[in-house]
Amino acid sequence: MYTANSTRYDHMQYKRCGRSGIQLPLVSLGLWHNFGGGSLYDTARQMVLGAFDLGITHFDLANNYGPPPGSAEENFGRILKNDLMPYRDELIISTKSGYLMWPGPYGEWGSRKQMLASLDQSLKRMGLEYVDIFYHHRPDPDTPMEESMGALATAVHSGKALYAGLSNYNAEQTEQAVRLLREMGLKLLIHQPRYNMLDRRPEEGLYTVLEREGVGAIPFSPLEQGILTDRYLNGIPADSRAAGASVFLKPDKLTDDLLGRVRRLNDLAQQRGQSLAQMALSWLHRSPVTASVIIGASKLSQIEDAVQAQNNLAFSEEELRLIDGLTRA
Ligand SMILES: NC(=O)c1ccc[n+]([C@@H]2O[C@H](COP(=O)([O-])OP(=O)(O)OC[C@H]3O[C@@H](n4cnc5c(N)ncnc54)[C@H](OP(=O)(O)O)[C@@H]3O)[C@@H](O)[C@H]2O)c1
Repeated sequence: MYTANSTRYDHMQYKRCGRSGIQLPLVSLGLWHNFGGGSLYDTARQMVLGAFDLGITHFDLANNYGPPPGSAEENFGRILKNDLMPYRDELIISTKSGYLMWPGPYGEWGSRKQMLASLDQSLKRMGLEYVDIFYHHRPDPDTPMEESMGALATAVHSGKALYAGLSNYNAEQTEQAVRLLREMGLKLLIHQPRYNMLDRRPEEGLYTVLEREGVGAIPFSPLEQGILTDRYLNGIPADSRAAGASVFLKPDKLTDDLLGRVRRLNDLAQQRGQSLAQMALSWLHRSPVTASVIIGASKLSQIEDAVQAQNNLAFSEEELRLIDGLTRA
């Protein structure tokens, strides 16, 4: 029987998510890789409970996380049932719909049918009455945005979700969505963009929109799937994502040029008294728009490392210039 660490709130910093009542831990945990049916349940459980013991209150899921799709939510539901349910009110649990989940014309994208059926499935898999945040996972070019935003509004107004979020929407789409939601009596809480030192797209307008609208950002893949860590400095470890079956990170991404730049970033991190992973996370927090970052992990020690990013959040102009020089395309 699990009992949470009594000091779990003593060390973690929490940051307000846009103009809202919600505060998020500086580091959140995502269950995209390493929590599905093909992963070891005991390791997954150890990471989730270990994260909570460190003050990580936010866990990010999606309908399709696995493999197989849905199995990360099932495993998380098992951890909730066996261990975490007594702490439900201390948790911010998110899920999403939009990517392919079941066959036929309603199994993906952004129809009302798709989104609300998917949310019901997610609640069932996790054994929850509600999620804290329900995201539209990606914009749907063929469905009127009114319909997708209407589904988010229904999810919140029906009590199946407490807040609404968007992911992978660009600046213009986000602006339009914020306006539509407002007309439906709903404030967008959060946006989940892909953002890290090597992927700067949110700097091209999205963060400006989020700041103006009072919406928090929670970058995903903040460590560029492990590239912005010491993981690949001396080859490709057998237990790493690049060596595994993930189609999202292939060894050919790890070019000599990229690894040369990562090594110099690693030197800079060491000068700052941080691991490279910690520096990459601190760097995203240089903007007040960033409410949290969603890391992935394959072992608890990586989460323990990541949360220490909060020990050095300040950057000098010179450090920022150096990072820009090494990372901007
Ligand atoms: N909204 C979307 O469309 C979307 C898309 C992708 C992801 N996400 C969310 O974002 C979350 C994170 O994505 P991600 O897994 O790509 O994030 P990431 O944090 O960029 O990469 C995670 C990987 O980095 C390595 N790592 C993590 N901490 C480390 C440390 N301290 N030292 C050394 N290596 C470390 C591990 O690699 P190894 O496995 O090799 O050990 C880990 O699996 C997902 O779980 C999901 O919740 C959302």
